[in-house]
Amino acid sequence: MRIDGRETRTIWLEADGWSVGVIDQTQLPHRYATARLATLEDAAAAISAMVIRGAPLIGATAAYGICLALRADASDEALDHACKRLLATRPTAVNLKWALGEMAAAVRNRPRGERVAAAYARAAEICDEDVAINRAIGLNGVKLIEEIAARKKTGAPVNILTHCNAGFLATVDFGTATAPIYTAHDKGVPVHVWVDETRPRNQGAALTAWELNHHGVPHRVIADNAGGHLMQRGEVDMAIVGTDRVAANGDVCNKIGTYLKALAAHDNGVPFYVALPSPTIDFSIAEGRDIPIEERAADEVATISGRTADGRIETVRLVPEGSPVANYGFDVTPARLVTGLITERGVIAPTALAAAFPERAPAARAGRVAR
Ligand code: MRU
Repeated sequence: MRIDGRETRTIWLEADGWSVGVIDQTQLPHRYATARLATLEDAAAAISAMVIRGAPLIGATAAYGICLALRADASDEALDHACKRLLATRPTAVNLKWALGEMAAAVRNRPRGERVAAAYARAAEICDEDVAINRAIGLNGVKLIEEIAARKKTGAPVNILTHCNAGFLATVDFGTATAPIYTAHDKGVPVHVWVDETRPRNQGAALTAWELNHHGVPHRVIADNAGGHLMQRGEVDMAIVGTDRVAANGDVCNKIGTYLKALAAHDNGVPFYVALPSPTIDFSIAEGRDIPIEERAADEVATISGRTADGRIETVRLVPEGSPVANYGFDVTPARLVTGLITERGVIAPTALAAAFPERAPAARAGRVAR
């Protein structure tokens, strides 16, 4: 994405050629700041504290976390420790497990002296692959937007609702759910985005709105509970969201609140699309109810941060002292409520994953193992 006139990714190698730079997303939207990761612990802490977040970017950051760990100690023990440490950071986004598997496969059978270079090479590939996949998702998804635009009065925008941030900031670049939106906008197809604030961490209000502003895409931020009302009034033409893990049966796990939007979309005949790169498919999980759902600190719900009138960033308490709080980070939308999955290989039915990605489907894998 162009930030202040410069093509920018969300993760990069610093000038020293080994430490890793990231956009510190805890400071957005009021402050653009970066953070430098120089150790395994830095990378793990950046994921846990959500300095970086979003399934694909969590995977890319974990990949560089392995690089930083192997720089310090390239032994098998160090590799195993690093994989365990990074896997323990957050439980829901499967891209984390996928990236660690890719990194281990890239270095495990190599002599120690070659492991650091091999790790940095694979981490860079994972980042480039992510960008290429998102561009393909954009090209596959833009057709859905153009079809709706063609049915509307000339020039009338296609109104797209999105939840959380599945954009540039959640990936290495370009985003997943935002990819068709940016592609349409760049082609001159009129779009307007309803941006769910996405309590409790406000990824919509703070991050999606920030990047849509940067790209010049018309949008309005709404309270999470407004989407159903807008759908009833015919003011939402389609919904596009991201996902942290898709089960083999097509059930989709995404930010808490996504399921409620899918129910409202179903009730109002609004097409509900989920955009995802193939690393987010987890064929080892049969159904959505088996996906681990992250529970985070109560304070994320009990308090809220923002900028004061004089420009300070302050956190204030919403919930009365003594009231217990539960904070579930994700929910599962059953495949039956999903109109289609927008992937790098096209728009597919949620139940057609194995056909679309045969090389990853259990049968193929079993065949490979047998071989
Ligand atoms: O808790 P977060 O901010 O990491 O949750 C992010 C989401 O739920 C995104 O929608 C998902 O990771 C897809 S990102 C392309």
